Amino acid sequence: MSGVVLVTGGAGYIGSHVSKALAESGFTPVCYDTLEKGHSWAVRWGPLECGDIGDAARLEEVFARHKPRAIVHMAGYIEVGESVRQPERYLHNNATKSEVLVAAAVRHGVDAFVFSSTCAVYGMPQTEKLDETHRIAPLNPYADSKARVEATLTRAASAGLRSASLRYFNAAGADIGGEIGEAHEPETHLLPLAIDATLGLAPSLTLLGDDYPTPDGSCVRDFIHVSDLADAHLRALHWLQRAPVTGLHEQFNIGSGSGYSVRQVMTETARITAHPVPYTVGARRPGDSPRLVGNIEKSHRELSWLPKRDLDIQIEDTLRWRRKMPR
Ligand SMILES: NC(=O)c1ccc[n+]([C@@H]2O[C@H](COP(=O)([O-])OP(=O)(O)OC[C@H]3O[C@@H](n4cnc5c(N)ncnc54)[C@H](O)[C@@H]3O)[C@@H](O)[C@H]2O)c1
Repeated sequence: MSGVVLVTGGAGYIGSHVSKALAESGFTPVCYDTLEKGHSWAVRWGPLECGDIGDAARLEEVFARHKPRAIVHMAGYIEVGESVRQPERYLHNNATKSEVLVAAAVRHGVDAFVFSSTCAVYGMPQTEKLDETHRIAPLNPYADSKARVEATLTRAASAGLRSASLRYFNAAGADIGGEIGEAHEPETHLLPLAIDATLGLAPSLTLLGDDYPTPDGSCVRDFIHVSDLADAHLRALHWLQRAPVTGLHEQFNIGSGSGYSVRQVMTETARITAHPVPYTVGARRPGDSPRLVGNIEKSHRELSWLPKRDLDIQIEDTLRWRRKMPR
Protein backbone atom coordinates (compact mmCIF):
# COMPACT_ATOMS: atom_id res chain seq x y z
CA MET A 1 0.00 0.00 0.00
CA SER A 2 1.19 3.54 -0.64
CA GLY A 3 0.01 7.12 -0.81
CA VAL A 4 -0.18 10.16 1.40
CA VAL A 5 -2.30 9.96 4.54
CA LEU A 6 -3.13 13.12 6.46
CA VAL A 7 -2.78 12.26 10.16
CA THR A 8 -4.48 14.85 12.35
CA GLY A 9 -3.15 14.74 15.90
CA GLY A 10 -0.09 12.95 14.53
CA ALA A 11 2.19 14.53 17.15
CA GLY A 12 0.21 12.94 19.96
CA TYR A 13 0.48 9.59 21.69
CA ILE A 14 -1.64 7.43 19.42
CA GLY A 15 -1.02 9.60 16.33
CA SER A 16 2.73 9.04 16.47
CA HIS A 17 2.31 5.26 16.74
CA VAL A 18 -0.18 5.26 13.85
CA SER A 19 2.27 7.36 11.78
CA LYS A 20 5.04 4.87 12.41
CA ALA A 21 2.80 1.96 11.40
CA LEU A 22 1.69 3.81 8.25
CA ALA A 23 5.28 4.53 7.22
CA GLU A 24 6.27 0.91 7.83
CA SER A 25 3.45 -0.15 5.50
CA GLY A 26 4.56 2.13 2.68
CA PHE A 27 2.32 5.14 3.28
CA THR A 28 3.57 8.71 3.73
CA PRO A 29 2.01 10.09 6.91
CA VAL A 30 1.68 13.89 6.91
CA CYS A 31 1.18 15.06 10.48
CA TYR A 32 -1.33 17.89 10.90
CA ASP A 33 -1.29 19.14 14.49
CA THR A 34 -1.37 22.39 16.46
CA LEU A 35 1.31 20.98 18.80
CA GLU A 36 -0.81 22.35 21.64
CA LYS A 37 -0.68 18.93 23.29
CA GLY A 38 1.61 16.96 20.98
CA HIS A 39 5.38 16.95 20.56
CA SER A 40 7.53 17.72 17.52
CA TRP A 41 9.93 14.96 18.69
CA ALA A 42 7.15 12.46 18.10
CA VAL A 43 6.84 13.38 14.40
CA ARG A 44 9.50 11.18 12.80
CA TRP A 45 7.89 9.36 9.91
CA GLY A 46 6.79 12.17 7.62
CA PRO A 47 6.43 15.93 7.35
CA LEU A 48 4.87 18.07 10.08
CA GLU A 49 2.31 20.67 9.04
CA CYS A 50 1.27 22.87 11.96
CA GLY A 51 -2.39 23.70 11.76
CA ASP A 52 -5.78 23.49 13.37
CA ILE A 53 -8.48 21.14 12.08
CA GLY A 54 -10.91 24.06 12.31
CA ASP A 55 -8.84 26.24 9.96
CA ALA A 56 -10.31 25.67 6.48
CA ALA A 57 -7.75 27.88 4.69
CA ARG A 58 -4.79 26.10 6.27
CA LEU A 59 -6.32 22.74 5.40
CA GLU A 60 -6.65 23.85 1.76
CA GLU A 61 -2.93 24.73 1.67
CA VAL A 62 -1.98 21.35 3.10
CA PHE A 63 -4.30 19.47 0.71
CA ALA A 64 -2.80 21.41 -2.22
CA ARG A 65 0.76 20.62 -1.13
CA HIS A 66 0.41 16.93 -0.19
CA LYS A 67 -2.74 15.69 -1.98
CA PRO A 68 -3.66 13.10 0.69
CA ARG A 69 -5.79 10.18 -0.47
CA ALA A 70 -6.89 9.31 3.06
CA ILE A 71 -7.28 10.92 6.47
CA VAL A 72 -6.77 9.46 9.93
CA HIS A 73 -8.41 11.96 12.27
CA MET A 74 -7.05 11.76 15.81
CA ALA A 75 -6.78 15.46 16.74
CA GLY A 76 -8.76 16.45 19.78
CA TYR A 77 -8.81 17.13 23.49
CA ILE A 78 -8.88 13.92 25.50
CA GLU A 79 -9.52 14.52 29.20
CA VAL A 80 -12.89 13.38 30.55
CA GLY A 81 -12.61 15.36 33.81
CA GLU A 82 -11.61 18.57 32.03
CA SER A 83 -14.49 18.13 29.58
CA VAL A 84 -16.96 18.08 32.48
CA ARG A 85 -15.52 21.39 33.70
CA GLN A 86 -15.23 22.96 30.21
CA PRO A 87 -17.91 21.34 28.04
CA GLU A 88 -18.10 24.11 25.41
CA ARG A 89 -14.34 24.02 24.84
CA TYR A 90 -14.52 20.27 24.18
CA LEU A 91 -17.55 20.42 21.93
CA HIS A 92 -15.98 23.24 19.92
CA ASN A 93 -12.51 21.72 19.51
CA ASN A 94 -13.56 18.13 18.99
CA ALA A 95 -16.96 18.31 17.30
CA THR A 96 -17.44 21.71 15.63
CA LYS A 97 -13.91 21.86 14.24
CA SER A 98 -14.16 18.28 12.97
CA GLU A 99 -17.01 19.46 10.73
CA VAL A 100 -14.50 21.71 8.94
CA LEU A 101 -12.12 18.79 8.41
CA VAL A 102 -14.89 16.47 7.22
CA ALA A 103 -16.07 19.13 4.75
CA ALA A 104 -12.51 19.35 3.37
CA ALA A 105 -12.39 15.54 3.08
CA VAL A 106 -15.66 15.54 1.08
CA ARG A 107 -14.52 18.46 -1.10
CA HIS A 108 -11.29 16.69 -1.99
CA GLY A 109 -12.93 13.30 -2.47
CA VAL A 110 -10.55 11.33 -0.24
CA ASP A 111 -10.83 7.54 -0.51
CA ALA A 112 -11.02 6.84 3.20
CA PHE A 113 -11.48 8.64 6.52
CA VAL A 114 -10.69 6.91 9.81
CA PHE A 115 -11.80 8.61 13.02
CA SER A 116 -10.63 8.14 16.64
CA SER A 117 -13.83 7.61 18.54
CA THR A 118 -14.17 6.15 22.00
CA CYS A 119 -15.94 3.37 23.90
CA ALA A 120 -17.14 6.17 26.22
CA VAL A 121 -19.90 6.90 23.66
CA TYR A 122 -21.73 3.85 25.12
CA GLY A 123 -22.06 5.39 28.61
CA MET A 124 -23.63 3.08 31.21
CA PRO A 125 -23.18 -0.51 29.99
CA GLN A 126 -26.39 -2.43 29.39
CA THR A 127 -24.52 -5.66 28.64
CA GLU A 128 -21.35 -7.23 30.03
CA LYS A 129 -19.45 -6.68 26.79
CA LEU A 130 -20.36 -3.75 24.59
CA ASP A 131 -20.86 -4.35 20.91
CA GLU A 132 -21.27 -1.70 18.23
CA THR A 133 -25.08 -1.93 18.37
CA HIS A 134 -25.16 -0.87 22.04
CA ARG A 135 -27.07 2.37 22.55
CA ILE A 136 -25.10 5.62 22.35
CA ALA A 137 -25.55 7.53 25.64
CA PRO A 138 -22.44 9.57 26.53
CA LEU A 139 -21.96 10.41 30.22
CA ASN A 140 -19.57 13.34 29.68
CA PRO A 141 -18.93 16.13 27.13
CA TYR A 142 -15.78 14.43 25.83
CA ALA A 143 -17.75 11.34 24.82
CA ASP A 144 -20.59 13.53 23.55
CA SER A 145 -18.14 15.36 21.27
CA LYS A 146 -17.04 12.02 19.78
CA ALA A 147 -20.64 10.87 19.24
CA ARG A 148 -21.27 14.14 17.40
CA VAL A 149 -18.36 13.53 15.04
CA GLU A 150 -19.75 10.07 14.33
CA ALA A 151 -23.07 11.73 13.43
CA THR A 152 -21.22 14.17 11.14
CA LEU A 153 -19.56 11.22 9.39
CA THR A 154 -22.91 9.46 8.98
CA ARG A 155 -24.24 12.57 7.22
CA ALA A 156 -21.08 12.87 5.10
CA ALA A 157 -21.64 9.32 3.84
CA SER A 158 -24.56 10.61 1.79
CA ALA A 159 -22.08 13.03 0.17
CA GLY A 160 -19.91 10.03 -0.77
CA LEU A 161 -17.40 9.92 2.12
CA ARG A 162 -16.25 6.46 3.18
CA SER A 163 -15.41 6.50 6.87
CA ALA A 164 -14.84 4.29 9.88
CA SER A 165 -15.10 5.31 13.52
CA LEU A 166 -12.75 3.24 15.62
CA ARG A 167 -14.14 3.18 19.14
CA TYR A 168 -10.97 2.77 21.14
CA PHE A 169 -11.06 1.31 24.60
CA ASN A 170 -8.11 2.34 26.85
CA ALA A 171 -4.91 2.81 24.87
CA ALA A 172 -1.81 1.72 26.77
CA GLY A 173 1.80 0.66 26.27
CA ALA A 174 4.45 2.14 24.05
CA ASP A 175 6.29 1.48 20.83
CA ILE A 176 8.11 -1.85 20.97
CA GLY A 177 11.25 -0.18 19.58
CA GLY A 178 11.18 2.33 22.46
CA GLU A 179 11.16 5.32 20.08
CA ILE A 180 7.87 6.88 21.20
CA GLY A 181 5.31 6.58 23.96
CA GLU A 182 2.71 8.37 26.00
CA ALA A 183 3.74 11.87 27.20
CA HIS A 184 0.60 13.77 28.15
CA GLU A 185 0.76 16.89 30.29
CA PRO A 186 -0.97 16.48 32.64
CA GLU A 187 -1.05 12.68 32.48
CA THR A 188 -4.45 11.24 33.38
CA HIS A 189 -4.08 7.64 32.22
CA LEU A 190 -3.74 4.75 34.63
CA LEU A 191 -0.66 2.84 33.46
CA PRO A 192 1.76 5.79 33.26
CA LEU A 193 0.42 7.16 36.55
CA ALA A 194 0.80 3.80 38.33
CA ILE A 195 4.28 3.26 36.93
CA ASP A 196 5.44 6.80 37.77
CA ALA A 197 4.26 6.19 41.34
CA THR A 198 6.25 2.92 41.57
CA LEU A 199 9.34 4.61 40.09
CA GLY A 200 9.09 7.46 42.61
CA LEU A 201 8.47 9.97 39.80
CA ALA A 202 5.08 10.82 41.31
CA PRO A 203 4.19 10.72 45.01
CA SER A 204 1.26 8.33 44.65
CA LEU A 205 -1.57 7.21 42.42
CA THR A 206 -5.07 8.47 43.20
CA LEU A 207 -7.65 5.71 42.81
CA LEU A 208 -10.67 7.62 41.50
CA GLY A 209 -13.48 5.94 43.40
CA ASP A 210 -13.58 2.56 45.16
CA ASP A 211 -17.34 2.30 45.58
CA TYR A 212 -18.41 1.40 42.04
CA PRO A 213 -20.74 -1.59 41.54
CA THR A 214 -17.83 -3.79 40.41
CA PRO A 215 -16.26 -6.83 42.14
CA ASP A 216 -13.56 -4.78 43.93
CA GLY A 217 -15.23 -1.35 43.83
CA SER A 218 -12.83 0.18 41.28
CA CYS A 219 -13.68 0.89 37.63
CA VAL A 220 -13.20 -1.90 35.10
CA ARG A 221 -11.58 -1.04 31.78
CA ASP A 222 -10.39 -2.79 28.63
CA PHE A 223 -6.74 -1.99 27.85
CA ILE A 224 -5.44 -2.15 24.31
CA HIS A 225 -1.79 -1.88 23.31
CA VAL A 226 -1.13 1.24 21.24
CA SER A 227 0.69 -0.79 18.56
CA ASP A 228 -2.34 -3.09 18.19
CA LEU A 229 -4.45 0.05 17.95
CA ALA A 230 -2.16 1.40 15.23
CA ASP A 231 -2.52 -1.85 13.30
CA ALA A 232 -6.33 -1.49 13.41
CA HIS A 233 -6.01 1.83 11.55
CA LEU A 234 -4.11 0.21 8.70
CA ARG A 235 -6.74 -2.49 8.43
CA ALA A 236 -9.57 0.04 8.54
CA LEU A 237 -7.95 2.07 5.74
CA HIS A 238 -7.52 -1.05 3.66
CA TRP A 239 -11.12 -2.11 4.35
CA LEU A 240 -12.47 1.31 3.33
CA GLN A 241 -10.36 1.45 0.18
CA ARG A 242 -11.77 -1.94 -0.89
CA ALA A 243 -15.37 -1.15 0.08
CA PRO A 244 -17.54 -1.60 -3.02
CA VAL A 245 -19.99 1.18 -2.13
CA THR A 246 -19.59 4.94 -2.32
CA GLY A 247 -20.46 6.62 0.91
CA LEU A 248 -20.54 4.68 4.16
CA HIS A 249 -19.80 5.07 7.84
CA GLU A 250 -19.07 2.00 9.96
CA GLN A 251 -18.14 1.71 13.64
CA PHE A 252 -15.61 -0.76 15.08
CA ASN A 253 -14.67 -1.53 18.67
CA ILE A 254 -10.93 -1.59 19.16
CA GLY A 255 -10.17 -3.17 22.52
CA SER A 256 -8.77 -6.38 23.93
CA GLY A 257 -12.15 -7.88 24.82
CA SER A 258 -10.99 -8.40 28.44
CA GLY A 259 -11.71 -6.25 31.47
CA TYR A 260 -9.33 -5.38 34.32
CA SER A 261 -10.22 -3.31 37.35
CA VAL A 262 -8.01 -0.42 38.40
CA ARG A 263 -7.01 -2.45 41.46
CA GLN A 264 -6.08 -5.44 39.28
CA VAL A 265 -3.89 -3.18 37.12
CA MET A 266 -2.19 -1.90 40.28
CA THR A 267 -1.53 -5.48 41.41
CA GLU A 268 -0.10 -6.45 38.01
CA THR A 269 2.05 -3.29 37.92
CA ALA A 270 3.41 -4.09 41.39
CA ARG A 271 4.22 -7.66 40.32
CA ILE A 272 6.02 -6.62 37.13
CA THR A 273 7.95 -3.71 38.68
CA ALA A 274 8.55 -5.60 41.95
CA HIS A 275 7.36 -2.48 43.83
CA PRO A 276 3.97 -1.82 45.40
CA VAL A 277 2.04 1.04 43.79
CA PRO A 278 1.70 3.81 46.40
CA TYR A 279 -1.88 5.10 46.26
CA THR A 280 -4.62 7.04 47.96
CA VAL A 281 -8.36 6.67 47.42
CA GLY A 282 -10.01 9.75 45.95
CA ALA A 283 -13.52 10.65 44.86
CA ARG A 284 -15.14 9.26 41.74
CA ARG A 285 -14.41 11.31 38.61
CA PRO A 286 -17.64 12.79 37.25
CA GLY A 287 -18.56 11.27 33.90
CA ASP A 288 -16.84 7.91 34.46
CA SER A 289 -18.68 4.70 33.62
CA PRO A 290 -18.15 1.81 36.10
CA ARG A 291 -17.31 -0.70 33.40
CA LEU A 292 -16.30 -0.46 29.73
CA VAL A 293 -15.29 -3.73 28.10
CA GLY A 294 -15.59 -4.38 24.38
CA ASN A 295 -16.94 -7.12 22.22
CA ILE A 296 -14.41 -7.09 19.36
CA GLU A 297 -15.97 -9.73 17.09
CA LYS A 298 -16.94 -7.25 14.39
CA SER A 299 -13.39 -5.89 14.07
CA HIS A 300 -12.07 -9.45 13.93
CA ARG A 301 -14.62 -10.50 11.31
CA GLU A 302 -14.60 -7.40 9.07
CA LEU A 303 -11.06 -6.06 9.49
CA SER A 304 -9.29 -9.37 10.20
CA TRP A 305 -7.88 -7.61 13.24
CA LEU A 306 -7.02 -9.14 16.60
CA PRO A 307 -4.87 -7.67 19.38
CA LYS A 308 -1.56 -9.42 20.04
CA ARG A 309 -0.16 -7.71 23.15
CA ASP A 310 -1.67 -8.39 26.59
CA LEU A 311 -1.70 -6.27 29.76
CA ASP A 312 1.71 -7.56 30.92
CA ILE A 313 3.31 -6.37 27.68
CA GLN A 314 1.52 -3.04 28.00
CA ILE A 315 2.91 -2.57 31.51
CA GLU A 316 6.43 -3.66 30.51
CA ASP A 317 6.50 -1.31 27.50
CA THR A 318 5.13 1.59 29.55
CA LEU A 319 7.75 0.94 32.23
CA ARG A 320 10.57 0.98 29.69
CA TRP A 321 9.22 4.20 28.14
CA ARG A 322 8.62 6.09 31.41
CA ARG A 323 12.25 5.45 32.44
CA LYS A 324 13.64 7.10 29.31
CA MET A 325 11.01 9.54 28.01
CA PRO A 326 11.82 13.26 27.60
CA ARG A 327 10.45 15.18 30.61
N1 LIG B 1 -5.69 7.63 24.71
C1 LIG B 1 -6.80 6.87 24.76
O1 LIG B 1 -6.89 5.92 25.53
C2 LIG B 1 -7.96 7.19 23.84
C3 LIG B 1 -9.15 6.44 23.98
C4 LIG B 1 -10.21 6.72 23.13
C5 LIG B 1 -10.09 7.69 22.15
N2 LIG B 1 -8.94 8.41 22.05
C6 LIG B 1 -8.84 9.44 21.02
O2 LIG B 1 -7.67 9.22 20.27
C7 LIG B 1 -7.14 10.46 19.81
C8 LIG B 1 -5.67 10.54 20.18
O3 LIG B 1 -5.52 10.42 21.58
P1 LIG B 1 -4.09 10.62 22.25
O4 LIG B 1 -4.12 9.88 23.55
O5 LIG B 1 -3.04 10.31 21.27
O6 LIG B 1 -4.13 12.18 22.56
P2 LIG B 1 -2.96 13.27 22.44
O7 LIG B 1 -3.39 14.45 23.27
O8 LIG B 1 -1.65 12.66 22.74
O9 LIG B 1 -3.00 13.66 20.90
C9 LIG B 1 -3.98 14.52 20.37
C10 LIG B 1 -3.27 15.49 19.44
O10 LIG B 1 -4.25 16.33 18.83
C11 LIG B 1 -3.71 17.64 18.74
N3 LIG B 1 -4.85 18.56 18.63
C12 LIG B 1 -5.81 18.81 19.53
N4 LIG B 1 -6.71 19.67 19.04
C13 LIG B 1 -6.33 19.96 17.77
C14 LIG B 1 -6.87 20.76 16.74
N5 LIG B 1 -7.97 21.48 16.92
N6 LIG B 1 -6.23 20.79 15.54
C15 LIG B 1 -5.08 20.08 15.34
N7 LIG B 1 -4.51 19.33 16.29
C16 LIG B 1 -5.14 19.26 17.49
C17 LIG B 1 -2.88 17.81 19.99
O11 LIG B 1 -1.90 18.82 19.86
C18 LIG B 1 -2.28 16.41 20.15
O12 LIG B 1 -1.01 16.30 19.53
C19 LIG B 1 -7.98 11.55 20.46
O13 LIG B 1 -8.93 12.01 19.52
C20 LIG B 1 -8.66 10.83 21.60
O14 LIG B 1 -9.90 11.41 21.92
C21 LIG B 1 -7.87 8.18 22.87
